[in-house]
Amino acid sequence: MKNSTRMQSVSFTRMDRGTVEDYALLDELAKPYIAGTGERVLAYLEQLKGGGFPGYRVDRYEHSLQTATRAFRAGEGEEFVVASLLHDLGDDLAPENHSELGASVLRPYVARHTYWMVLQHGLFQGYYYFGMTGEDPNARDRHRGHPAYDMTVRFCADYDQLSFDPDYDTLGIDHFVAMVERLFEREPWGEQTTREWPME
Ligand SMILES: [Fe+2]
Ligand SMILES: [Fe+2]
Repeated sequence: MKNSTRMQSVSFTRMDRGTVEDYALLDELAKPYIAGTGERVLAYLEQLKGGGFPGYRVDRYEHSLQTATRAFRAGEGEEFVVASLLHDLGDDLAPENHSELGASVLRPYVARHTYWMVLQHGLFQGYYYFGMTGEDPNARDRHRGHPAYDMTVRFCADYDQLSFDPDYDTLGIDHFVAMVERLFEREPWGEQTTREWPME
């Protein structure tokens, strides 16, 4: 019988029969699993190649890289650049509310304003096209005065809404891998998340 941690498992078949030892074991086994989040996120991002909403001139993988490239070249901080890379992570699994999915993946690892920016980017992006689809392009105005309002406007104006260009000189994923790894190596729910920012 293999003696690896992968083979270890709890004694219970229903959670209310678990012991203190069982839950201590699960906690131990969860640590390396949680530490692999960045790697899994990068692998998932690769799946956006050739995918995402159809009809655009670049796929969502290219769009993600291009958004991050523009943010990087504009001198945004590393957390902002990684958020730019991952902001559309939810497109395939949550096409009706993709902003929420990407924001939730980032939430334990980023400052509250970065989380809010990704959470609201879909609404703010609407400024550029809601007028053509019968929605209110100024819907973002309801958040005016929020401390992350301006950075979310900037994210959409300067990076996200521009990044559907097949001719742009987009950097490859290799440029961003170490940044993603560093972000997900942070202590989840650590000091980066504790600053007081309004969440609504
Ligand atoms: Fe988006
Ligand atoms: Fe986007």
